Amino acid sequence: MKTKTIPLTISSSLLAILLVISYAFNPGIEEKIKDGKVIYKKNCAVCHMKNGKGVPHTFPPLVKSDYLTNNSKEKLIKLLLNGQKGKIVVNGKKYNNVMLPLKNLSDYEIAAVLTYINNNFGNSGPEYFSEEIKNQR
Ligand code: HEC
Repeated sequence: MKTKTIPLTISSSLLAILLVISYAFNPGIEEKIKDGKVIYKKNCAVCHMKNGKGVPHTFPPLVKSDYLTNNSKEKLIKLLLNGQKGKIVVNGKKYNNVMLPLKNLSDYEIAAVLTYINNNFGNSGPEYFSEEIKNQR
């Protein structure tokens, strides 16, 4: 009897510990959006503006951006990692400017900021995960 219950207790407490660890390393979407907001203010707002409206003819908007809905997760991750230059059209307006790569941000920071812009500024897009960023580096 005893020999059976002990391993069971050990394995269930191990499971509990693993669960706690995985939560700690994979914060829920709400937490991610909160972190993304801070990262956005620091790294993106200078061009895209705090309200996400951008600057006409110069910096495209993130507010209800059709670029976010028309492009794959992969493409948007690459845009942050490699930057973007040349002609693009956002919400029917043309831009032809340069956005520098933001490779210096961590996988989690990129996942958080992409989750934030996709779930703020009138957008409702997917959650991004650190693993997905890592795979595109
Ligand atoms: C130095 C200015 C600058 C910074 C900083 C910057 N961007 Fe950009 N971003 C641009 C420009 C310019 C373009 C359009 C490039 C072109 O014309 O090809 C762009 C395009 C985009 C696009 C695609 C178009 C759209 O409006 O949906 C997204 C998404 C985007 N940026 C997100 C971000 C995020 C997120 C950050 C911060 C982590 C960031 N940018 C930081 C200048 C910037």
